[in-house]
Amino acid sequence: MKLHLRIWRQKNANGAGRLVDYDLDGVSPDSSFLEMLDLLNEQVTLQGEEPIAFDHDCREGICGTCSLMINGVAHGQNREQVKAVTACQLHMRHFKDGETIVVEPWRAQAFPVIKDLVVDRSAFDRIIQAGGYISVSTGSAPDANAIPISKKDADVAMDAAACIGCGACVAACPNASAMLFTAAKVSQLSYLPQGQTERDQRVADMVAQMDAELFGSCTNHGECEAVCPKEISLDFIARMNADLIKATLKGVSPGKNVNTNGKK
Ligand code: SF4
Ligand code: FES
Repeated sequence: MKLHLRIWRQKNANGAGRLVDYDLDGVSPDSSFLEMLDLLNEQVTLQGEEPIAFDHDCREGICGTCSLMINGVAHGQNREQVKAVTACQLHMRHFKDGETIVVEPWRAQAFPVIKDLVVDRSAFDRIIQAGGYISVSTGSAPDANAIPISKKDADVAMDAAACIGCGACVAACPNASAMLFTAAKVSQLSYLPQGQTERDQRVADMVAQMDAELFGSCTNHGECEAVCPKEISLDFIARMNADLIKATLKGVSPGKNVNTNGKK
């Protein structure tokens, strides 16, 4: 395949970025999107230019680092027959020979660009640090059939735990809201008995941290669910909001785990 690529290049966090045009030949339709970028980087390096910086790690749809906006869609999915994939799992056979492909970083105030296609997603880490843990001792791993959790609750908790923290939900949302991510991380614990001890404080702290990181508010567009590679449901947002109301009515307010970092 021959491709015309328009890639966001930005020297550093403070530099002004711009789309740079590249022509690339010899792309296998069976290669992944990241392998195509590897090929482009070989070409760019041989031409004496600095390679294009992009985030990646597992290349198996697990780690959530491959944050790319491809032709205006997070992870480049929602094309014909392409849904629920990360950019690393997207294959070039879903593009046309000769196609122009625009590649940009996530766009959100809370995810500042570090370089080229790499953004700083440490805001997500701070939301997890604010409450995404349990303090009860659970001992060593018991037999699965000895755990007193209903199958339904275990399944829903697992659905929430499937979130890989990629940030596509934020990038796709017109408000750059992190509600789907935060709701998944709150819910994966709130459905389980081990997660009950901190349930109220957790939701108060994690939502306060999310606000402090300057993510936008949820206005029910549903773009987050549409692009989520792990198909996290909007239902988790409704459940998190219900939990937050209950915690607030009990008089629980954000505590010392919230790190406003001078932002708010
Ligand atoms: S909710 Fe989905 S889109 Fe958002 S961070 Fe988790 S996996 Fe990525
Ligand atoms: S590189 Fe790990 S999910 Fe894509």
